[in-house]
Amino acid sequence: MKISVCVLPGDGIGPEITAQAERVLAAVAERFGHAVEIRRALIGGAAIDAVGVPLPEDTVAACQASSAVLLGAVGGPKWDDLEPALRPEKGLLGIRKALGLFANLRPAVLYSELAASSLLRADIAAQGVDVLVVRELTGGLYFGEPRGEAVVDGERAAFNTMIYRESEIERILRVAFEAARRRRRQVCSVDKANVLEVSRLWREVAARVSQDYPDVELTHMYVDNAAMQLVRAPHAFDVVVTENLFGDILSDEAAAITGSLGMLPSASLGASGPGLFEPIHGSAPDIAGQDVANPLATILSVAMLLRHGLGLEAEAQAVEQAVRTVLGRGLRTRDIATHGATVVGCAQMGEAVLAAL
Ligand code: IPM
Ligand code: MG
Repeated sequence: MKISVCVLPGDGIGPEITAQAERVLAAVAERFGHAVEIRRALIGGAAIDAVGVPLPEDTVAACQASSAVLLGAVGGPKWDDLEPALRPEKGLLGIRKALGLFANLRPAVLYSELAASSLLRADIAAQGVDVLVVRELTGGLYFGEPRGEAVVDGERAAFNTMIYRESEIERILRVAFEAARRRRRQVCSVDKANVLEVSRLWREVAARVSQDYPDVELTHMYVDNAAMQLVRAPHAFDVVVTENLFGDILSDEAAAITGSLGMLPSASLGASGPGLFEPIHGSAPDIAGQDVANPLATILSVAMLLRHGLGLEAEAQAVEQAVRTVLGRGLRTRDIATHGATVVGCAQMGEAVLAAL
């Protein structure tokens, strides 16, 4: 098969980690007899520096012309003082919207090899963590209109709108139920239905959609309680589905408790067209260019790209297996190193995965 991937390295450690992920993609493709064509395009601060905007039109076109998109990370202190419309983050939000990527899959897994780096109490960590956060990605407060600033009773005020249409809720719920069928068949829908009208509609639609999935258990949870339960009993969660901002927050929490932020990949998918695959961590400007970043989240994003973007399950598993092999050998980048580990740099970690492939 011919695989065409648009790589958006972005900012900070983005270029280093995507470089390693590209090598792994090339190697797995060769092993399975696929031809890979890589395009590279600008996004975020790198695009601002080069052409003055965070998401150039060329970049959108390059992504649309590819079968999948691999992204590093965007943002950094250099661009923090720019006006909101010109910040690096607008590049990321813009490409999600332009490609219609409404479904964001963020698996948070506690690797048994890395249990020592988990932030959880040992007896809780021992029960394992394997949560899939399904975050709605193109609606809610992030995109709702009206938004802006106004003067209210003589003083400055600012406002955003949380709005969801039934169709938007329904399609993300379906993604969650379908995912649950390939897992432990439990969906926890997270909302704030005790306060928000949006959440009451969300609950109603969730209950209606669940009738099409009688084999999957649906529960509802308020977002504040979900934040608490995620640390108290993370093993109790299978699939968590929620709106954009709640999902942003809960997915960081779920990732952080596994202790392996540098390990976790994500997939953003639309109804059709290319998906976008990226590590869930940020651009880590403090360690950029030092060859110490952990490339594994991006390499595991290649696995998600193969599985969800291209339907190449065996290829995805080969990448995941190679990562496990490397961890099993005790190789660790600085962020996941514990006593007795062999600490390696970003490129060395990439090489080790290549060797294991
Ligand atoms: C994420 C990030 C982004 C988001 C930022 C960088 C705009 O936090 O992917 O979770 O809020 O969606
Ligand atoms: Mg976030």
